Amino acid sequence: MERGEKLYEGKAKVLFATEDPNLLIQYFKDDATAFNGVKKGTIADKGVLNNLISTRLFTILEAVGIPTHLEERLSDREQLVHRVNILPVEVVVRNLVAGSMAKRLGMEEGTPLPRPVVEFYHKSDELDDPMVTVDHIEVFGWAKEREIEEMMEYAHRINDVLIAYFANIDIRLVDYKLEFGRLATNPSELVLADEISPDSCRLWDLHTNEKLDKDRFRRDLGGVEEAYQQVVERMGLKR
Ligand code: C5P
Repeated sequence: MERGEKLYEGKAKVLFATEDPNLLIQYFKDDATAFNGVKKGTIADKGVLNNLISTRLFTILEAVGIPTHLEERLSDREQLVHRVNILPVEVVVRNLVAGSMAKRLGMEEGTPLPRPVVEFYHKSDELDDPMVTVDHIEVFGWAKEREIEEMMEYAHRINDVLIAYFANIDIRLVDYKLEFGRLATNPSELVLADEISPDSCRLWDLHTNEKLDKDRFRRDLGGVEEAYQQVVERMGLKR
């Protein structure tokens, strides 16, 4: 499948048209941003590593019945994906207190949560993605009631699968962000879209709590590429 016109360029990925109006190419860049684009940099080969990681995770989720936008991985940096209309809502799932939750609630990072917590944020660069409630999502029309229920149900199912998958390779799944979209060919079908990678997850070594994710870039901890590479290796993926 050949890359056509560039449709959208985000902070970490680019979407291209293909000859099929319902299929797009998602291209993974090495660009890294944090704090809503305030901090910028590149992480060598991040695009290649995230493509490998996200393809494997989406394939695992598809296999357990979570519908996703992924059709196939095409090359080092490219995936063929179904065209979707992304809902302007980010779904964050947390298993331990970290990041903005630790800051907002004045809690220590790493504090366990008695059960997973799902949060919703409105996708808006101008507003810095504010946290919103289910009521906000509904009254402002960002998603329908049925879709909110579906996102919540998928989030819990995805969490069960991913916690177990990562635990098996000695990684603690601390938190992560999911995005969902309506299939262009069937807008009543909601599918998991975007990516799941160390850019969008907090992944800690199960034994040492060493960070294996984008926090190494956000917090200037060094060893960013090595951390992403470590995730690839533990997942048994080859470049
Ligand atoms: O910053 P915060 O603690 O709310 O992030 C929670 C999780 O969601 C982290 O794993 C982070 O990488 C991810 N996230 C993301 N994109 C955003 C916001 C959060 O991938 N825009």
